[in-house]
Amino acid sequence: MRLNGERIIIRDLHLNDLEDYFEYVSDENVGPSAGWKPVKSLDICKRVLSGNMLSKEMFAIELKEEKKLIGTISIYDNCIRKYKYVKQLGFSLNSKYWNKGYMSEAVKLIIMYLFEYTDTVVIECGHHSDNYRSKRVIEKCGFNYDGRLCKYKLLYDGRLIDADFYSITKEDYERRKRYE
Ligand SMILES: CC(C)(COP(=O)(O)OP(=O)(O)OC[C@H]1O[C@@H](n2cnc3c(N)ncnc32)[C@H](O)[C@@H]1OP(=O)(O)O)[C@@H](O)C(=O)NCCC(=O)NCCS
Repeated sequence: MRLNGERIIIRDLHLNDLEDYFEYVSDENVGPSAGWKPVKSLDICKRVLSGNMLSKEMFAIELKEEKKLIGTISIYDNCIRKYKYVKQLGFSLNSKYWNKGYMSEAVKLIIMYLFEYTDTVVIECGHHSDNYRSKRVIEKCGFNYDGRLCKYKLLYDGRLIDADFYSITKEDYERRKRYE
């Protein structure tokens, strides 16, 4: 996949992304908010990156200006709604690049891609209930609130977190497009 945005490109991951990938997956500010443990060795990072390349669920977010991977966005089949045509998104960004609108740009591109070029009818997205940055991205991208699952997940560090879930339907997307 390759999606060309204003400031970013969403594309397949490559092994030569390793250094950029390590820069953000080793960052203590990033993984814990998304529920994963920061990766502390380049060797492990290489294995994680290779696994994600094979899974075909995760894509690179490349900043055009710097030709650098600054984060990733994933499209999962394993969703809350249990039927075909549903996708769930996950995303993380190198903290040096936060609050510049890059993830909102990436999420909007993926929404466009899924509704315009695939048979997806609804996209889900969720965040830990205390992750206000992620909440804001999800709201800015036009998702509707579905509800909270209390004690949703037991994380690697022992935290038992609540999570909030949202969705956007193809009809929501088409309606919004008409008014843009
Ligand atoms: C969540 C994350 C991807 C956001 O990426 P980003 O590129 O900074 O997002 P954007 O710039 O598009 O939007 C961030 C919004 O959050 C707001 N924000 C930042 N810090 C905030 C806070 N503490 N409380 C509330 N809102 C906050 C920003 O002001 C901005 O909203 P605005 O445009 O209305 O001003 C990034 O912070 C990240 O990778 N976090 C760690 C991993 C993670 O949480 N992943 C999501 C798992 S569900």
